[in-house]
Amino acid sequence: MTEPFTRVAALPDHVGETVTLNGWLYNARGSKGLRFLELRDGSGLVQVVVNQEAVGEASWEAAASLTQESAFRVVGEVRADERQEGGVEVQAASVEVLALAEPYPITPKEHGVEFLMDRRHLWLRSRRQWAAMRVRNRIIMAIHGYFQGEGYVQMDAPVLTGNAVEGTSTLFELDYFDEPAYLTQSGQLHGEAMAMAHGKIYTFGPTFRAEKSKTRRHLTEFWMIEPEMAFYDLDMNMDVAEELLAAIVEAVTADCQPELAILERDVDALRASAQTPFPRLSYTEAVDLLTSDATQLMLDAEQEGLEDERHALEQERDQNRQAHGQAKKGEKRRIDAREIEINVRLDEIAEGLRNVPQWKASAAAFEWGADFGGSDETILTRHYTTPIIVHRYPAAVKAFYMKRDPEDDRLALGMDVLAPEGYGEIIGGGERATDLDFLRQQVEAHGLPESAFDWYFDLRRYGSVPHAGFGLGLERTVAWVCGLPHVRETAPFPRLLGRLHP
Ligand code: 4AD
Ligand code: MG
Repeated sequence: MTEPFTRVAALPDHVGETVTLNGWLYNARGSKGLRFLELRDGSGLVQVVVNQEAVGEASWEAAASLTQESAFRVVGEVRADERQEGGVEVQAASVEVLALAEPYPITPKEHGVEFLMDRRHLWLRSRRQWAAMRVRNRIIMAIHGYFQGEGYVQMDAPVLTGNAVEGTSTLFELDYFDEPAYLTQSGQLHGEAMAMAHGKIYTFGPTFRAEKSKTRRHLTEFWMIEPEMAFYDLDMNMDVAEELLAAIVEAVTADCQPELAILERDVDALRASAQTPFPRLSYTEAVDLLTSDATQLMLDAEQEGLEDERHALEQERDQNRQAHGQAKKGEKRRIDAREIEINVRLDEIAEGLRNVPQWKASAAAFEWGADFGGSDETILTRHYTTPIIVHRYPAAVKAFYMKRDPEDDRLALGMDVLAPEGYGEIIGGGERATDLDFLRQQVEAHGLPESAFDWYFDLRRYGSVPHAGFGLGLERTVAWVCGLPHVRETAPFPRLLGRLHP
């Protein structure tokens, strides 16, 4: 649709023309007779130059009255300026106030995370949040693009369900007209039914887990993408997971350069993750790696690296503090900003230095049969630059629906994809059990009510075939691709333990 105004993102195509912009004030500065307004319109940021001599009195007053996040309209000429972001700025001919904002709570100074989370509805306007949500959008489109291109049918699995999928400890229960019901933990079982109707399907929907722990990877509401393919085995399943992730990384690195720059994402490290095939390790091989000397040496090197970095940063901070006394105003501001950066990094380093010895100890003590914890996954992935796939886990740590390894009955034909750079599990899946009696037995062994699964057993009664699938966690994927330390910044309004508002 043609719009009666121009978007900031389109300005490079309009150099020399007069345009109308609608937006909000991100930041402003000025000197005598000149004001520089940073206008934010959702598509990008541009500097608007207001020259008192060139605009009427009303426009000059309007520009001067704008407070942070006030809405305003500008008519002006687009000029090429290499020093500016996007290579353009706008010379205002007129400025009109649309809505003056009250004093805005989120200022350019540093705020604590809880303060920002309480104002998530406003925090979304900040640059890093803006960039992360745009990457999320690109990832979503890449996922649909991949599956649609491969002939999958998208399906919506029910959110209200009568059965558990992933164990009973994380169920959100509700009263469904006097019958117990649950918010779905996974669309997989319904996806399996749909795969028997369409061959290849994928769900893309919200899933819920009453996770009672606060970690940087757990949400109580998250979006999961679950492909399910009839006549696929574990190896083919791993091929799909790998292709999907490579397609995501390629799309984001191709189309989200400005966003990745705002997020200060190491793009080379990210791009390396599009290199397939990903290493595939059996669980047993992964345990061997975790408990190896190579792991201990790697963690020793990490500890040394952190100590060196801490030393260098502390020195820089001392020098800056000494320079602060004699510095001019602008320079003082730069030093203050750098001090904040240094302190943030020093906190991270301190945390790393607390973690590493614990990781070393727990890695060395890891015993075959246990499930990997977050730190174990971090350590395993530190050995590689791409995601890795770990397969054939002990059946005891996996869900009831997993097929057993015909070569070793202790193992399930499950697989997890672990993202590099410490992000850990982003995909879990595997080949499904096809045998009715075995499945019945598993439902019982997992303490699940058989009656709730009778419909699912029908899939084994009527033309049971080998099939496989997996679930990709969207928020964990966004965290990894954006290089964000915590999943709370990966969804517009994340739901976590203790966080239901806004
Ligand atoms: O490994 P999970 O539990 O697997 C399943 O739910 C299977 N039914 C999927 C399937 O085979 N169709 O979850 C899959 C992925 C995890 O790898 C993780 O990325 C994400 O879902 N996930 C979470 N993300 C955020 N917060 C949580 N609490 C999550 N729990 C799982
Ligand atoms: Mg899992």
